[in-house]
Amino acid sequence: MAYQKFLSLLVITLYEASHIAAASPSPLSSLSPPPHLCGVKAAYWPSWQAESLPPSSIPTAYFTHLFYAFVLIDPNTFQILLNPNDDQWMESFTSTLHTSTPRAKAILSIGGAGADPATFSAMASTSSGRSAFIQSSITAARHHGFDGLDLDWEFPINAQDMSNLALLLKEWRSVLNQESLTTATPRLLLSVAVYYSPDLSYPGPRAYPGDAIRRYVDILSPMCFDYHGGWEPNATAAHALLYDGKSNVSTSYGVAAWKRGGVAPKQIVMGMPAYGRTWTLEDPNQHGIGAPAVGAGQGGGVLVYSAIVEFNTGNNATVVFDNATVSTYSYSGTNWVGYDDATSIASKVKFAMAQGLGGYFFWALGDDSNWTLAKTASMTWDSGN
Ligand SMILES: *[C@@H]1O[C@H](CO)[C@@H](O)[C@H](O)[C@H]1NC(C)=O
Ligand SMILES: *[C@@H]1O[C@H](CO)[C@@H](O)[C@H](O)[C@H]1NC(C)=O
Ligand SMILES: *[C@@H]1O[C@H](CO)[C@@H](O)[C@H](O)[C@H]1NC(C)=O
Ligand SMILES: *[C@@H]1O[C@H](CO)[C@@H](O)[C@H](O)[C@H]1NC(C)=O
Ligand SMILES: *[C@@H]1O[C@H](CO)[C@@H](O)[C@H](O)[C@H]1NC(C)=O
Repeated sequence: MAYQKFLSLLVITLYEASHIAAASPSPLSSLSPPPHLCGVKAAYWPSWQAESLPPSSIPTAYFTHLFYAFVLIDPNTFQILLNPNDDQWMESFTSTLHTSTPRAKAILSIGGAGADPATFSAMASTSSGRSAFIQSSITAARHHGFDGLDLDWEFPINAQDMSNLALLLKEWRSVLNQESLTTATPRLLLSVAVYYSPDLSYPGPRAYPGDAIRRYVDILSPMCFDYHGGWEPNATAAHALLYDGKSNVSTSYGVAAWKRGGVAPKQIVMGMPAYGRTWTLEDPNQHGIGAPAVGAGQGGGVLVYSAIVEFNTGNNATVVFDNATVSTYSYSGTNWVGYDDATSIASKVKFAMAQGLGGYFFWALGDDSNWTLAKTASMTWDSGN
């Protein structure tokens, strides 16, 4: 997750053309599916933006769960690496969310697009590696007052990684249950951020372990964005489209595939982007989705929603909502950007509700413009529940 994910998704995309129930510990639940959360309204908080987006600025009226992004793991010891900034901001993050009205949950996210997938792979491949990681993750989360842990491994590279991921989730959940009992503290939630679909094909076919996810995970967060981008330079595209009549690379396909893969709909917390992807048009008079382009556009191919709003206003851009894909794009001259605005976000949230999903998340918190997207999503969800 993060725009650096350009690289990791590059390889894949090129080839793949109410209220939250607290999870309470139960001695009998060690291997049974977790109780389902309902109405998860989440966002990732990039800790590197802490100065401009301090925890006190997060409007918890619109969010139930906030992810602290990110911490890495030591490639040798497989323990969580905390830097001095983390010590400062984690304390502020969790205490602010816990004393806000309404209260929100704080989840510590491990990995992200900038983390080396080989480290996760090595960690998950041995019992001692998994154990060191699990213990360290719990120590870090408890020390800083988090309510849960999120694994953002982008991405398991082969079938062996996927079966090791299943082992990791099983052991992690078991230790979390045990730790909750021995400390008489509510169990830490377990969340995993995953590819938009359970099946990946590049560099080889492999599938996420749906059974382990169903049994051990509270929140499954498919990253339903970055389907297209400047790595496909010749045509504009909607990078997070809900429906695609021509391919399986769409959010509706991914959600259906996850359900077929055996996870409970309520576990699925659907990702939505608060940023767009840009192209430079070949001809300013051809400006639809799929119009000829000459490469990535302004912002190096990515514009956050607040910058898109400024671009649209500043350039008197034409804004079009495309009902077929459920996406929005705007253009001015040869500048073109495909993104989600309030209209498409509301439509996607209604889709998530109609599918019986557990909620949604945004990447990333600070990209919004005056909380327009967060507020729209939250109000849409509430109006249907
Ligand atoms: C883009 O167009 C150029 C020139 O027509 C072509 O050589 C290239 O293969 C195309 N790239 C993609 C990703 O389609
Ligand atoms: C789309 O997915 C379906 C079902 O998983 C599969 O049968 C079909 O071949 C896929 N189509 C493409 C273009 O990959
Ligand atoms: C903005 O664009 C519209 C057409 O899209 C045009 O009617 C209007 O005059 C433009 N305004 C300015 C200030 O350029
Ligand atoms: C948008 O698509 C939906 C679903 O296909 C359809 O019910 C609705 O009428 C469409 N709206 C417009 C404005 O085309
Ligand atoms: C931001 O949103 C608030 C309320 O949602 C509104 O009162 C205010 O005018 C908005 N500011 C801008 C600059 O749009």
